[in-house]
Amino acid sequence: MSIESALIIGSGTMGRGIAQVAATAGLTTYVFDANAEQVASALDAIGKSLSKLVEKGKVPADVADGAKSRLKKAATLNDVDWSKVGIVIEAIYENFDAKKALYGELQKRMTPQTILASNTSSISITKLAAATDRPAKFIGMHFFNPVPLMSLVEVIRGIETDDATIEVVESLAKKMGKNPLRCNDMPGFVSNRVLMPLINEAAFALMENVADATTIDEIMKQGCNFPMGPLTLADFIGVDVCLNILEVLHRDLGDPKFRPCPLLRKLVDAGHCGRKSGRGFHSYS
Ligand code: CAA
Repeated sequence: MSIESALIIGSGTMGRGIAQVAATAGLTTYVFDANAEQVASALDAIGKSLSKLVEKGKVPADVADGAKSRLKKAATLNDVDWSKVGIVIEAIYENFDAKKALYGELQKRMTPQTILASNTSSISITKLAAATDRPAKFIGMHFFNPVPLMSLVEVIRGIETDDATIEVVESLAKKMGKNPLRCNDMPGFVSNRVLMPLINEAAFALMENVADATTIDEIMKQGCNFPMGPLTLADFIGVDVCLNILEVLHRDLGDPKFRPCPLLRKLVDAGHCGRKSGRGFHSYS
């Protein structure tokens, strides 16, 4: 089964990036957000991102124009042609109850064949799948920020996800120009289980005054060839998002090695959530 049309739910950083690569891959791409006003700004941001990629010679101008024409703003879920939508990719905020309520609404409209994928970075795929009427067609499709530039999609199999769903999603990810890599459903999957302890340890190093934030980042950039230092990356991801993922790892794996650094909590309490709030480990103008 090849997917020709997708619905992306959530038009924040991740949702808009996913919508961009879906439309660029030739899919008719609906974008829906409970906050309808945000969809307009998401489409605007996608237009700017595509223009930048054209400028840099990474996307041909006609492909970018085609992508823009395939993006459809869905003011309500009834604006979607459900008979054509082969996959819904959910990229809303990380809250189980909110996702479950959304899936209930989707189930009233999706055909029995429609695949439901979540871009969650921390909630169990198996638990989300169990909250739907289609656990065999439920899957984790974890993209990385900035989606148009990052090549990986982590494909997460829930306990009941069937092989056909995995194959369709992998071939869709390839069509989007991504490299899909499979893993099983465990807290943090592979990416965040490995990345978050690194960010956490960098926060501990800062808290214990081993070095200042810039030096910690430069040591990891220059010494390990990271494109961004771990504290800059935490600001890029969102300090609040990192804290939330660490809390899930700590709770669900029950291992003290995932204990979130108190400095992360302090920054979040202060509203210093990273680049999006103008301040995190570093300051942004
Ligand atoms: N669309 C188009 N262009 C974009 C863009 C987008 N969405 N986002 C950034 N760019 C552009 C910038 O505007 C900038 O353009 P200019 O060169 O004209 O200024 C350019 O990309 C960035 O270029 P740089 O030379 O500064 O950097 P780079 O090309 O070497 O790499 C990067 C940029 C890919 C972001 C790199 O810094 C990197 O790989 N950083 C780490 C990112 C990472 O680890 N992401 C994963 C986070 S974890 C996650 O997402 C999952 C989770 O669950 C938490």
